[in-house]
Amino acid sequence: MNLKFYVTTPIYYPSGKFHIGTAYTTVLADSIKRYHTLKGEDTYLLTGNDEHGQKIEQKAKEANQTPKEYVEKMANMAKELWAKMEIEYDDFIQTTQERHEKIVQKIFDRFMEQKDIYKGEYEGWYCVPCETYFTQTQLKEGKCPDCGREVKIMKEEAYFFNMKKYTNQLLKYYEEHPDFIKPEYRKNEMINNFIKPGLEDLCVTRTSFDWGIKVIKDPKHVIYVWLDALTNYITALGYESKDDTLFQKYWPADLQIVGKDIARFHLIYWPIFLMALGIPLPKTILVHNWIMMKDGKMSKSKGNVIYPETLIERYGLDAVRYFLLREMPTSQDGIFSPESFVERYNFDLCNDLSNLLNRTISMVNKYFEGNIPKYNGQPNKVDKELEEYTLEQIEKFDEKWNHYEIATSIQEIWNLIARTNKYIDETMPWELAKQEQTEKLQSCMYHLAENLRKIAILIRPFMKDTANNIFRQIGIQENDMKNWKNLKQYDKIETSKVIKKGEPIFMRLNVAEEVEFLKNIMKK
Ligand code: ME8
Ligand code: MG
Repeated sequence: MNLKFYVTTPIYYPSGKFHIGTAYTTVLADSIKRYHTLKGEDTYLLTGNDEHGQKIEQKAKEANQTPKEYVEKMANMAKELWAKMEIEYDDFIQTTQERHEKIVQKIFDRFMEQKDIYKGEYEGWYCVPCETYFTQTQLKEGKCPDCGREVKIMKEEAYFFNMKKYTNQLLKYYEEHPDFIKPEYRKNEMINNFIKPGLEDLCVTRTSFDWGIKVIKDPKHVIYVWLDALTNYITALGYESKDDTLFQKYWPADLQIVGKDIARFHLIYWPIFLMALGIPLPKTILVHNWIMMKDGKMSKSKGNVIYPETLIERYGLDAVRYFLLREMPTSQDGIFSPESFVERYNFDLCNDLSNLLNRTISMVNKYFEGNIPKYNGQPNKVDKELEEYTLEQIEKFDEKWNHYEIATSIQEIWNLIARTNKYIDETMPWELAKQEQTEKLQSCMYHLAENLRKIAILIRPFMKDTANNIFRQIGIQENDMKNWKNLKQYDKIETSKVIKKGEPIFMRLNVAEEVEFLKNIMKK
């Protein structure tokens, strides 16, 4: 094998601290990357910041800094957060870096030469925070359809990208590449809402502000922030630069992940830009929904914002990553509420997972002095049922990760955890011990340890510390035994000794106290 896997997050607007919603995209990308790494693939994860545009210019002014000072400070802040969240990114691109700006200018020139870009005049409704023009019909009750804020009429000499030229090619591409857009309903949204009504040519320059990449041949124009930003996925790999080794190796991307608000840019404009450049399109663009609060979007003014740092400090990174990934359905928004967070923590992490480990460790100590018995190769009926169920769950898990259905795949792992807990009730090891049915008791302990090992492997992509903690407590040391390679076999543990006294990986939270705590930090 030696497959490669290139995955990207969007590049973030550094206009404030990132909340848990923003962090969702990155946690998702990182987990998918790790899954492929653990399968032995050569992976590359790109993230970064999107540093041009009017909004950033304004923010810098408010902070009494030059835009460059401001974006540097913000890039460091982002990197600190990603370090805390153990995001294993391979590159962090900033769109103010020379490696990016030079290539964007080159791309713009090329589009001009190809006549994909032409000069005209633009008049339209402009939303400053979104840096997007809208037509009259696109407005929602006279306001920005994306953020709901006021828009104003603006008029300027501008360059346009000829989108119409590529519309049919794009539709054909959608049709011939069913894996290009996930989930599928997003494709229909694009077709019905934007393409069928007629794709407008896209205005790709601005003269109303300065903080952007200048058009070389007409420097009073700066390049539209989206044309600038979208190309980061290839400039970061050295596209059209002296050394394009990474581009040759990793492009086309295997997976690009974006939130629903920026689907249109990634599913329509980005593929068209790539077609115009004559380079292949990413294999899949995954559109995810949003993390919402009970009262709607997170916003400082509503006083309902949750920052990842606060949660990590109090509940640990793995609980936060677990919650984010588990609570995001494919077809709806995910909801964060203090109650649901504490409930998931207590039920899923503490009752289900932590207790399974603890019960197992204490029984192996009690009945076999900590030594996990050897597999006898002759599972009895209950054992066999457990084995079959487990292997089915593993298949489902793999299938779902390969389709990027992460929340439901995690559900499948927890079904497996519940099934393994049920196996204890079915086998009643305490009775087997009383009746001195040693062989059955051995087989039971073996199966519990084996299933814990398998569960640890399955959660490894998104809960690294917890997985390692489980391996350590059940005495799994060889790296091979922690990997996909040996996931499906049932005769792998040979001589393992569990630790003397189990250490709970998650401790039960006091519901009232923690709900109160979370409500308070939201108000701050
Ligand atoms: O859009 N839940 O950057 P951004 C889930 N710079 N995801 C959320 C979210 C929430 N509550 N809030 C935001 C930009 N996001 C551009 C991208 S790419 C060439 C340029 C997600 O900082 C959002 O959907 O506004 C997006 O995927 C990411 O955070 C960055 O948003
Ligand atoms: Mg945004």
